[in-house]
Amino acid sequence: MAHQPNLVSPVEPADVRTAPAPGGTYNDKVVIQFAVATVVWGIVGMLVGVVIAAQLYWPTLFEGISWLSYGRLRPLHTNAVIFAFGGSALFATSLHVVQRTCHVRLISDKLAAFVFWGWQLVIVAAAVSLPLGITQSKEYAELEWPIDLLITVVWLAYAWLFFGTIARRRVKHIYVANWFYAAYIITIALLHVVNNLALPVGMFKSYQVYTGAVDAMVQWWYGHNAVGFFLTAGFLGMMYYYVPKQAGRPIYSYRLSIVHFWALIAVYMWAGPHHLQYTALPDWAQSVGMVFSLILLAPSWGGAINGIMTLSGVWHKLRTDPILKFLIVAISFYMIATFEGPMMSIKTVNSLSHYTDWTVGHVHAGALGWVAMISIGAIYSLLPRLLGLQGMYSTKWIDVHFWIHTLGVVLYIAAMWIAGVMQGLMWRATNDDGTLTYSFVEALNATYPYYLVRLLGGVVVVGGMLLMALNTWKTFAMARNPAPQPVLPPDPSDVREMPGSAA
Ligand code: HEM
Ligand code: HEM
Repeated sequence: MAHQPNLVSPVEPADVRTAPAPGGTYNDKVVIQFAVATVVWGIVGMLVGVVIAAQLYWPTLFEGISWLSYGRLRPLHTNAVIFAFGGSALFATSLHVVQRTCHVRLISDKLAAFVFWGWQLVIVAAAVSLPLGITQSKEYAELEWPIDLLITVVWLAYAWLFFGTIARRRVKHIYVANWFYAAYIITIALLHVVNNLALPVGMFKSYQVYTGAVDAMVQWWYGHNAVGFFLTAGFLGMMYYYVPKQAGRPIYSYRLSIVHFWALIAVYMWAGPHHLQYTALPDWAQSVGMVFSLILLAPSWGGAINGIMTLSGVWHKLRTDPILKFLIVAISFYMIATFEGPMMSIKTVNSLSHYTDWTVGHVHAGALGWVAMISIGAIYSLLPRLLGLQGMYSTKWIDVHFWIHTLGVVLYIAAMWIAGVMQGLMWRATNDDGTLTYSFVEALNATYPYYLVRLLGGVVVVGGMLLMALNTWKTFAMARNPAPQPVLPPDPSDVREMPGSAA
């Protein structure tokens, strides 16, 4: 699609109601609360990641202490980083973006407070129950039924808050970032309810209603779409607001963003079976998963290019603005993960990669590269503005954080890629007489050096997060009692390509 940088969509008179907000202010309290929670849970979740990385290198670490065993800490890590860290970043940014682009305050302060404290309760319940070994044993859906019910209630409150605010918007069109947030909110509600249908047999025990191959299919329909809608669509919403905002440029192509949206949500739903290649799932379903995964490359890269090209004309800002570096390098890691994913879904490639650390490398290219970096960039971008400051306490520290984080991610994922391919090749190597060339333990021994490099990468990443926490602390200290910000009336010169230009 040809780029016309100066193309401005006409704003119809009906689009804009210029009446000033009658004394209203934005509800930034809940946004700031979730922003702080992002930093706190980021450190906690990644620290648990470092502990399990250490346990894979030193298998006897914490031996004999059941609640610190690898099997219990691993789901604690995934739940903490995905739902506590990533979730808080999504709550913070969606509730910020929806107010600024719709030019209204959230519909209810009480509901906003309920969503914040309700979600913290979910996180604490997870942090207690998982180390105790209370689990449904479904990956990324480990939490038992009472917590699942709490999640449902909080999520419905969140949906009410978000969509209620959209319904009260003071501009006619709905900025594209909100479309992505809306898709993520609706889809997660659907996935959560369907995948967690279970019969409780006690306070902490339930049985899934699905069995066998159907259970596996439902689980990976959930698992893959949790990646697609929790770890991707919501963060694309972030991209569509904070990249143009930070770059001071309209989104590269608004038309492409609409194509991106519909293509992504239409294709993602069908790709789940790529997690079940060579299993008891019908062969045709595995092939459908593979084909839709390959198609998924196109919308993924189209959207990413739209984000990166938003910088056209202002590339020089990358030299001086470390927040922009976080955002743009995040998109680059997204491109890496969404190129690698379709390749791994090809059956023959999957026969090599499955069960190996290649998958773990792919996961963290997406998780630490894309999800964490775009979240960190967005928090650095929004926090000082909400506190009435020009920027964070130290821009230099943001730059240091950027380099530390990037180094940590590269160490992590490069180590896992090499280890994964090596494991796959060692497992399948055969001698002339058909016997295996290597025993499993030989492949494991060969992996140890890479586990050490991964551990080092994780420690480096957590170091960067601690620097972020210090920077956040100092920024709060600079901004004592910031005044609430008035709701800005829509600017008649507002264009669709540029999120709430005055906000
Ligand atoms: C300091 C940073 C981190 C470290 C050291 C770390 C470490 C680990 C380790 C050791 C595993 C287990 C791998 C295995 O079972 O072989 C793991 C799994 C996982 N981590 Fe992390 N992690 C970090 C950050 C993150 C972040 C920020 C996210 C998400 C936003 C994330 C998401 C996941 C997921 C989804 C898995 C499960 C992967 C699978 O089942 O294939 N991690 N992590
Ligand atoms: C076009 C996009 C993508 C495709 C087609 C794709 C495909 C795949 C494939 C084929 C696997 C390996 C399944 C297996 O052998 O078990 C996988 C695993 C995984 N991917 Fe992706 N991926 C994509 C993007 C992403 C992104 C952006 C993220 C993270 C933000 C991500 C997170 C994960 C996770 C967490 C797993 C591990 C699931 C598990 O076994 O626990 N993927 N993906």
